[in-house]
Amino acid sequence: MPHEAATIPTPYRRHGSNAGQPLTRRDGPLKVTGRATFAADNHPEGMLYAVTAVSGIARGRVTFLDVDAGKAHPGVVEVMTPANRPPLAHDPNEKMAPFGFRVEVLQDDTVRYANQPIALVIGETLEAATEGALLLNPRYDVASARTTPESGLRYDLAVVGVGAPARTAHGDLEAGFAAASVITEAEYVTPPQYHNAMEPHAVVAQWDGDHLTLDMPNQAMALSCVAYGAYFGIPAENILIRSPFLGGGFGSKAILNGPQILAILAARMLKRPVKLVLTRAQMYGPVGHRGSTWQTLRLGMDEEGHLTALHHHALCATSSFDDFIEPAANASLPLYASPAILAEHTGLRLDIGTPGPMRAPGEASGSAALEVAMDEAAHACGMDPLEFRLANYAETEPGTGRPFSSKSLRECYAEGAKRFGWSGRPLQPRQMRDENGFLVGWGMGTAVFHCPHFPAEARATLRDDGTALVETSGADMGQGAWTALAQIAAEALGLDPDQVEFHSGRSSLPDGGIAGGSGHTASAGLALNNAGEDAIARLAELATSDPRSPLFGAGNIGVVARGGRLHRRDDDRHGESYAAILKRAGRAQVVGTARAMRDPAAAQAHAMFSHGAVFAEVKVDPDLGQVRATRLVGAFAAGRIINPRLVRSQYFGGMIWGASFALLEEAITDRRTGRIMNADLAEYHVPVNADVPALDAILIPEEDPYVNPLGVKGVGEIGITGTVGAIANAVWHATGKRVRRFPIRIEDLV
Ligand code: MOS
Repeated sequence: MPHEAATIPTPYRRHGSNAGQPLTRRDGPLKVTGRATFAADNHPEGMLYAVTAVSGIARGRVTFLDVDAGKAHPGVVEVMTPANRPPLAHDPNEKMAPFGFRVEVLQDDTVRYANQPIALVIGETLEAATEGALLLNPRYDVASARTTPESGLRYDLAVVGVGAPARTAHGDLEAGFAAASVITEAEYVTPPQYHNAMEPHAVVAQWDGDHLTLDMPNQAMALSCVAYGAYFGIPAENILIRSPFLGGGFGSKAILNGPQILAILAARMLKRPVKLVLTRAQMYGPVGHRGSTWQTLRLGMDEEGHLTALHHHALCATSSFDDFIEPAANASLPLYASPAILAEHTGLRLDIGTPGPMRAPGEASGSAALEVAMDEAAHACGMDPLEFRLANYAETEPGTGRPFSSKSLRECYAEGAKRFGWSGRPLQPRQMRDENGFLVGWGMGTAVFHCPHFPAEARATLRDDGTALVETSGADMGQGAWTALAQIAAEALGLDPDQVEFHSGRSSLPDGGIAGGSGHTASAGLALNNAGEDAIARLAELATSDPRSPLFGAGNIGVVARGGRLHRRDDDRHGESYAAILKRAGRAQVVGTARAMRDPAAAQAHAMFSHGAVFAEVKVDPDLGQVRATRLVGAFAAGRIINPRLVRSQYFGGMIWGASFALLEEAITDRRTGRIMNADLAEYHVPVNADVPALDAILIPEEDPYVNPLGVKGVGEIGITGTVGAIANAVWHATGKRVRRFPIRIEDLV
């Protein structure tokens, strides 16, 4: 069959490895020369500027806004408040699937969190709109803000995150603890964290009748078009989202948010294009964050250090009006073999903006707590932390017994430990010092991330000059999609990546699915692969049915697409170039299309995860308590590697965010006002170069026949998991002090 001709994966298997070519990023030159256009770089003719005025209180009611003063500003065109906000076609208080979030669009005068938009000021210039917003001078009825587990309302949730069960129980927990000879239990606290993408949330909205064009960073274009269509009462097809580049997404650009909807409303109301760009401070509220957690882990072990019971409870913050929480406890489900596991969540309503997906939502916080708990349990059993994890290695999915589609975690442990030098680690803490007298500690953690797969579409056009155009709508957030996806398409088409023009970043292209969940390369990649195969099959049809072609009659034998030529499967001298086939057929091009999804039966039958092991070294000043992560070695197995250079860079990024979680990031809430006191990049610490340790990422070869036909798993978010615990465990190993609150601070260690 000609159709299977293009599926022979040649370059991936060069040198006996399943890794592809380490191409550099195709978008690199555009980015470094400033030619890449981000949403806020667009300036259509006649454009106005919108600025949100935000609440200075966290709970209460707006009793007065000086709209007259705002409007009197010579550059202000309009002030939008709940009094004149135009209607929407969908009730913004109603949660819309699949996002499941209420949107904040001036529906009333109630204040539910600090930095909530309370008005939108539109001006001829950014300065005028900004000044107009300052002139509104709001007054409030202030109620006391609920900011702590003591003041917040606890409640039971049905689902957590984006739809996982809030409570999962396997086996008999009580019997497990009764059988244990050692039991450890502790509480771990993770703080609120904010995405802090370099590029703020932005939109340039233009209406043309009932057609809407949006320049905006967006991780889920097709879903967004449907949702915007519902809010504005127009068909989704009338909406064009252009999102060629994102200056970081981290989950915060996957869901709709109120400020952008307000700007679109303003553009319709004023019949002119409107631009809105949130300030850094305004991103601490209405556009999601990672919610704080208070996690209790109780582990039971028998005499040999085998888990007999694992209980992970997470109390997780959410807003007073929505339900998204950080699904932290579910991190304890896929990893360690225990006859009894209970993972459960309790919601905590606080006067905060609703949390949302952020950099391994759930896994990051849950793994931080679990990996420290495992370290504590290993110590209680008198075992080396790696030996303890190997003793509890899950050969099948804990609880369900399903086989893993592939799992090379043992190899990750072995290779990572070898590269790091783990075997030289003293069992007891506070045993190592460097030449400067700093305490040195080594810790480790297991990394794990699930493998979601989203439906996606693509189109591949082979042209009579021998080149191809491939198209799919998904965005490049900076992760390298433009390069890796083009490589997959080129491979399917039997072309060099240089011969493949790749179009992406516009919602009018075939739906590339969601750029999230570390599933974009697999999802959009499979669609591109299949579209490429479809194009090759159509081309083969032209050749094998044409008596003038050397491939005539090869239909039953099959053809192979390689190097821009089709040749007979059984004889590579008989073939011809794509250009020659198309020219003789009088065709300018052939077009292949695909809508692709993984096999649902394979997904049902298997547990699908990427795995890894992270080893960390820290140095702690014994007098000042200052901690430096000095070395991180991660070994990861994530199926077929399309581009090892980009993948290594993804792992580095993940590990850096892990170090950030462990030692730097925290939004600090003023308990008197409910306001975040460090809502800027000066005081909210994200890692700079000086904070980043020496990094090493090992790519463990892995073949996965079930996860999807490409064998590609996710590599984006896994690096943060494992790393947080590894660093915390290294801090304990250096100092003997067990810190159970993140980030670990100087004051925890002196
Ligand atoms: Mo990510 S938090 O799946 O964009």
